[in-house]
Amino acid sequence: MAKKNDDFFDEKKDWSKVKDALLGNYFKPYVQKILHTYRPLVYVDCFAGKGKFADGNPGSPVIALDIIKECEAQTRVETSSIEATFIDLNYAADLQENLSGYSGVCIVSGKYEENIKRILKDKDNCNVFLYIDPYGIKALQCSLFDYFAKRNFNSIELLINLNSFGFIREACHAMGTSFDAPDVFEDLVEYDPTKLDATEKSIRELNEIAGGDYWQAIIAAYKKKEIDGYEAESQFAEQYCMRLMDNFRYVLNMPLRIKRGQRPKYRMIHATNHTDGCLLMVDNICKRWEMWQDVQNEGQMTLFPETYDNQFLSEETLERMVVEHFSQCSKWTSLSEALAIFFVMHGPICKAGEATKILSRLEKEGCLSVLRNPEKTEKGTPTKFMTEGKGKTVSVRWKT
Ligand SMILES: C[S@@+](CC[C@H](N)C(=O)[O-])C[C@H]1O[C@@H](n2cnc3c(N)ncnc32)[C@H](O)[C@@H]1O
Repeated sequence: MAKKNDDFFDEKKDWSKVKDALLGNYFKPYVQKILHTYRPLVYVDCFAGKGKFADGNPGSPVIALDIIKECEAQTRVETSSIEATFIDLNYAADLQENLSGYSGVCIVSGKYEENIKRILKDKDNCNVFLYIDPYGIKALQCSLFDYFAKRNFNSIELLINLNSFGFIREACHAMGTSFDAPDVFEDLVEYDPTKLDATEKSIRELNEIAGGDYWQAIIAAYKKKEIDGYEAESQFAEQYCMRLMDNFRYVLNMPLRIKRGQRPKYRMIHATNHTDGCLLMVDNICKRWEMWQDVQNEGQMTLFPETYDNQFLSEETLERMVVEHFSQCSKWTSLSEALAIFFVMHGPICKAGEATKILSRLEKEGCLSVLRNPEKTEKGTPTKFMTEGKGKTVSVRWKT
């Protein structure tokens, strides 16, 4: 059931709150870290909206600007330079008004896909963070993501709201079938649904969004009833992330469902080339998941711990997965690197600290060799830390 867009900014819905919490809680430690690179940060909210909601709740622009202001006030890095740009096709005037209390803000009235290259034109050697939160899928050209990754930025991170369910629905239309999902339509309010029909042009458009034609085999299997819609969405999301990994080393995704057991409303996808960013996002997704779980369960407690994907994960299973992954480290490997790859493969199934707790135990049991730098504390006792950064490194190797 399509709904007009005008009321989107009247009241901030629960899923918008979780989505923005995912951005806000990641963005603060991200900015704090990035300031220490002593390179400028270029933040672009590519589908910025109005800045805030009519019910008084902050939108993504106000959330990011408050964090920037706080980090700039707290940092000891004197040469910090942060540029914040907000693009919106419909609400530039609202943005002007709602962001007038912040300095150094750039507002662009127009389309993200037509403006982003110009905005990033002379930003080589900068740290670039793009928040990409469209209503639908139409503007998500994969070739632009490839272009960002290939530019000479000091670092580039993307946080994308991917309406994967919307993609599957339109892909079904383009391939001459329909997507049967009454449970989703009951709760899903589709803003500005992208409408595609069964033409070559639609197929080309979807290829451009997906970054290839891999999605067609998924829809063909769905058409033949070999897989259901849930499986189709999940396969598409997985292959989409794999496609992003052509150019981004670490890609994570968090499905957001309105109710347990339903198809995801959309997926938040994080792409980066940095282990720190990936591990920071893993912890953030796990923390946000606790909040989202309350929304999904309408305040009721769950009996078993569940992952971000509503899967039950026992301690034994997690330990088995950690052993399986790290037993492949036959050469010295950076702990952060090995952990980030673990989470890319399995998803953000637990906080990084839970995995390192298991690794410390494996070290004690003599299964894992650990090389720490510095090796000793100031008092001369062996160090035991299991995180890298701030002058500390950790390498691990499985003992055969
Ligand atoms: C989901 S809303 C963004 C909400 C915002 N992130 C927040 O939390 O407040 C999507 C926004 O994208 C804008 N929009 C639609 N198509 C666009 C395009 N091609 N380029 C830039 N903005 C666009 C819409 O006007 C709308 O405000």
